Amino acid sequence: MNLGVSSCVFQEEPAVIWLSFDNMHHQWLLLAACFWVIFMFMVASKFITLTFKDPDVYGAKQEFPFLTTLPELEKMREERYLPKELKPTGKVLSGNRLNQPMVHMERLELLKNVCRDAALRNLSHTAVSKFVLDRIFVCDKHKILFCQTPKVGNTQWKKVLIVLNGVFPSIEDIPENVVHDHEKNGLPRLSSFSDSEIQKRLKSYFKFFIVRDPFERLISAFKDKFVHNPRFEPWYRHEIAPGIIRKYRRNRTETRGLQFEDFVRYLGDPNHRWLDLQFGDHIIHWVTYVELCAPCEINYNVIGHHETLEEDAPYILKEAGIDHLVSYPTIPPGITVYNKTKVEHYFLGVSKRDIRRLYARFEGDFKLFGYQKPDFLLN
Ligand SMILES: *[C@@H]1O[C@H](CO)[C@@H](O)[C@H](O)[C@H]1NC(C)=O
Ligand SMILES: *[C@@H]1O[C@H](CO)[C@@H](O)[C@H](O)[C@H]1NC(C)=O
Ligand SMILES: *[C@@H]1O[C@H](CO)[C@@H](O)[C@H](O)[C@H]1NC(C)=O
Repeated sequence: MNLGVSSCVFQEEPAVIWLSFDNMHHQWLLLAACFWVIFMFMVASKFITLTFKDPDVYGAKQEFPFLTTLPELEKMREERYLPKELKPTGKVLSGNRLNQPMVHMERLELLKNVCRDAALRNLSHTAVSKFVLDRIFVCDKHKILFCQTPKVGNTQWKKVLIVLNGVFPSIEDIPENVVHDHEKNGLPRLSSFSDSEIQKRLKSYFKFFIVRDPFERLISAFKDKFVHNPRFEPWYRHEIAPGIIRKYRRNRTETRGLQFEDFVRYLGDPNHRWLDLQFGDHIIHWVTYVELCAPCEINYNVIGHHETLEEDAPYILKEAGIDHLVSYPTIPPGITVYNKTKVEHYFLGVSKRDIRRLYARFEGDFKLFGYQKPDFLLN
């Protein structure tokens, strides 16, 4: 902040002179100028900010230095240390890449079966609305569609596709502020095309997205949006959190900021939609994967799992026919591992009734993508 403050102090002298012979108008102008300087400095500092060490936010914040070559990735995989108690609730998948086609075939088969289950119909089906089409990014050059699901390293995938679209020569060349600026990054949303162009792409392009354990994902979203409170997303803490607290906080004398318990109660409320509408697109961080990507309506070719991203990322590149052009940025060891201790810890203060309601809403995501029902929380 030093830079911003000293700029303002430096400006103070002329301010005194101006004020002495002119009106308040100049004072306000100067004040605005000072705020402008401070604001610009904050913007600049964002790009100086280095990596967060929290594994949950790596997708959004941490920059991986380079495109890695596949042999390097191979080496990392061998070095990976997986404690026994940290096994994912999702189907534990073999790390052997020879089994990859099999694993992915099973996933798609499971998805197809769950989509047909009439009892889960409301939890597995959704309209392919503008909301869904807004989530899907288009790489025309290589005929790829990517549905964005936050908190699973999707920034990295966007970078891969931006490079493939040819606007930037390599991942390191993409300025951080451009990754999510769809006017400049050359990565259009599917919603920006006409109906017939949308249909054409949905029919013939390679389509994929990434999921992770639904409850761990919610913890990650909660931490990232309401605990860390990034400077450039103040609306989560200042608008969304108070909105949730107003309606869902039980203990009226409790004055702390949004607690995970409040968040769970909001998400599990069958009437959550009226609040969702007020929150706009910010809800992408916590609505179901079904609502984001319409997996039963759109015929996806691959559904990657965050928990096995080390194997799934190269597989996706290979299936999309781009593995000779790019590789997925290095995945820091241990970062994708499901942490049951953490999940238990977060749900500790939440009532069984609220957890069951939450599960009732996210059951579709658990079943469609083969994540085990978290009985250790429900019973
Ligand atoms: C699904 O939703 C519809 C309308 O929202 C409702 O009428 C129906 O009872 C629901 N079905 C199930 C199985 O929950
Ligand atoms: C409500 O919150 C206050 C402040 O944190 C706390 O002292 C009190 O014990 C809470 N009451 C209940 C019933 O949990
Ligand atoms: C799992 O989560 C717990 C509680 O948040 C934390 O103390 C522990 O370090 C985590 N383990 C790993 C391997 O990340």
